[in-house]
Formats: sequence, C-alpha cells, structure tokens
Amino acid sequence: MSRLVVASNRVPNPRGSQPQAGGLAVALSGALRRNGGLWFGWNGQLSQTAVSRPRMDQAEGIDYATLPLSKDDYDDFYLGYSNAVIWPVFHFNLGAMSYERRYSEAYARVNDLFADALAPLVEPDDVIWVHDYHLMPMARELRERGVRQRIGFFLHIPFPDYDVLRAMPGHRRLLEDLCRYDLLGFQTENDRHAFEESASRAVGALVETSGVVRHRNRRLRTGVYPVGVDVDELADLSRRTLTAPRVRRLLDGLGERDLVVGVDRLDYSKGLEQRLRAVEALLQDYPHRRGHTVMMQIASPSRSSISEYADLRQRLEGLAGHINGSYGDLDWAPIHYLNRTFARGSLMGLYRAARVGLVTPLRDGMNLVAKEFVTSQDPDNPGVLVLSELAGAAAELEDAILVNPYDVDAIAAAINAALAMPLPERRRRHQRMMNRLRENAIDVWEKRFLDDLHWHIA
Ligand code: G6P
Repeated sequence: MSRLVVASNRVPNPRGSQPQAGGLAVALSGALRRNGGLWFGWNGQLSQTAVSRPRMDQAEGIDYATLPLSKDDYDDFYLGYSNAVIWPVFHFNLGAMSYERRYSEAYARVNDLFADALAPLVEPDDVIWVHDYHLMPMARELRERGVRQRIGFFLHIPFPDYDVLRAMPGHRRLLEDLCRYDLLGFQTENDRHAFEESASRAVGALVETSGVVRHRNRRLRTGVYPVGVDVDELADLSRRTLTAPRVRRLLDGLGERDLVVGVDRLDYSKGLEQRLRAVEALLQDYPHRRGHTVMMQIASPSRSSISEYADLRQRLEGLAGHINGSYGDLDWAPIHYLNRTFARGSLMGLYRAARVGLVTPLRDGMNLVAKEFVTSQDPDNPGVLVLSELAGAAAELEDAILVNPYDVDAIAAAINAALAMPLPERRRRHQRMMNRLRENAIDVWEKRFLDDLHWHIA
C-alpha cells in the first residue's frame, strides 16, 4: 500500500499539550492517525534565518517533518499573502485585503523552500495530499523537482466567485498552479463551480464535464468532499465530558438558566460582532429571556498581529462589556466572553450542556463546530443549532435553523425560536442531521478523496 504524505502549513506540535484551533488540524490529525504517513509543514516556530532541512519526529504512528519560518517569511508569507490577501478574498471580504508586492514574493519563496525540503522525502509509491491556501503552488514546485507521484489538493476554505477573485493580485498565477494538481477537492459544489468558472475565464481552462478540466494539454479532476467529524468518537466524548469538573461547575453556576454557546477562532469571517449584537437584540426584543439566558462565547486568539484581528478583538471586548453593563444584574451577566483555546474534550461537554449552538460565520469553508455541536447532543433531549446559510456546513445541515449572518434581528428571532422549540421537533431535526453526519463522516472524506486520487487518469 502506498504511503500518504500530507503537506499543510499548520502542523500541530506532536508533543505539544496546547489544544489546536482550526478545522484543518482537527481533520488531518484524525486522517493521519487512521492511515499513518508523513505530515510535512511549518512547526509554528520562528527562526533567525530560513531553514530548509526539516526536523523529523514521530508520534502516534505519524512521522513529522517540520520547519520553522524566518521572521520575514512569517510576516510576509503567513501573515501577509496567506492571511491578509488570500484569506480575506477567499472569504469574499475585499475590504480586509491588504496587498504588498513583497507578500507575493514571500509566498513564492516559501513554497519554493518547502518544496526543496519536501521533494527529497518523497518515495516512489507515495501519494501526496496538499492542504489549503498557503501551499497552492506546491504541485508545480514538486513537479519542477522531478516528483512524478500523484498529487492532490484540498481547499478547506471557500473558493470565491470570479468577480471577487479577480481583484486579488496574483490570482492568475494561483489558478495556473492549481491546474497542475491531479485532483482538486472542495468543501461544497459551490466552491468547485466557482473554481471551474474562474479557471475557464482567467486562464483558458476548458471544463469538459463538471469534474474534468483540461488545461494546457493536461487533464485534472475536481471533486466535492465535505469535511466531516468522527461521529462515534465525539458522541462518546461529549457523554463523558458532561461530568468533567469544569463543565459541572459551569452547569452549577447556570442553575435553571438556558445556555447558548459559540466557539470560534477570533476571526472577522466568523460574524462575531453580529452575533453579540443579536444577543443584545434578543434581550431587547424578547424581554422574557432577560435573566434566563446566558451566552458563552469562546473566541480563541488567532493571527493577532494582523491589525484587522487586533481591532476586532478590541471591538468584541467593548461590545460584550456594553451588553453586560446594559442588561446584566447583580446575579446575572448575559454574556460570558472568553479569549482562550480549550481542549476539544471540554468543548464537547459544553456543547452537550447547551440548549442552543450559535454558528453564524459571514463565510466559512465548512465549519466543524456546527457538526461537533450536533454530534455532541443527547439524542433524547437535543439542543438546537442556529447556523449561517453562508457556512459550507449549511449544504448538509438543512435541519438547523438557517439564518443570514448579517441579519442581527433574524439571528435573535432564531435564538428565541430555538429556545422555544418543542422536544419532538428537536429530536426530528437532530436525527436527520445525525444521519447526514454519519453519511459524510471524516473517514468517508479521506477515503473518497484518496480513492479518487488513486484512480486519476491523466
Ligand atoms: C482555518 C484554515 C487552516 C488554518 C486554521 C487555523 O481552518 O483553513 O488552514 O490552519 O484556520 O489558522 P492558523 O492561521 O492558526 O493556522
């Protein structure tokens, strides 16, 4: 059997105790634990100068080959082109894009450096699976170094419509680079379609049939592979952690009050301001909820040296303080706002304890929190998911209460409806969502992608 080689910018520290925030690390940790293989990428650390010899490590049956980034590469490749250019544009937020020429230079430089480090590690029967927007040029870079093995790419974030993408400096180059893969995977049909449309309009690719694209005398395949969760493992974890001391303390403190929960990276794509304002609207417009509802919002700090992120953090702190100051009482604060990353176990217990899960990103590739929330519920007495219709997960979780994440009053109404929903309806919706989550569980995601990559016919 061939070995799986995974390349992604974010690689969790195999010996670290710090929990990881972000869907990519969660999905890939599971896939590699099940299949074994090599995980290549950035180790999350900075070095004085660029390093091109990876450090090798091994844990839980996975081999790791990781590199630090130099300070310049961290600033211009990671914070710059990856997260101040591609990230906002791919989340349809041109206003948050901030482009400098040195960012695209660093993007090319780091992909070149990573390919130098990865190419010598690749063995003849390996299958290479590259992940996410930081490493789009990797197939071309590896091909230029003589790598002939199959190379697939999966995009964890949305793919923007062409009229948005075309505002991004360097987009043609990236589209050309994406066409060098054997298989491109997307979270939703929408994303795949947006890629095909952009590739045909910007770089002359020909979509032969949906899923087969011809570009410069080569054929590549595209496919839709929604990232899922490990349903049984998570359901079990949520049952066990409901009795964890931290969750018990929270429940004791809540008493009879209803818990509404949100868990996100602190990112402007997550719709956090609108969400807090929706809680304010709930307290304003549905006065019977005052004193009886507690919103717990966990926002894990992320990319905090980018000004858009630092500014957002300040605004959220101000907003949470303002709402608590206006509506709180001596024995009740409506919003618990925490800037921390928690272990997944504690989160699963928290989800199970909640009556409502609020997942309202302005755009999201998938959003695994939505899926984890549903999976963690008690099937006999499940909580209700309020989900943005602009999250990839909405394509599967149609039995959530779907909302427009920009419409604060609609979110408030959805929270109120979720809190009032009768048990039979909650059970029905939960059951149907669980069926979908089982069909698209995480092992199905990797299996379908890797099967398609194996069967690729150039
Ligand atoms: C999203 C991206 C991932 C990224 C994660 C955390 O899920 O799709 O590629 O790893 O956010 O962001 P960070 O910048 O900390 O890696």
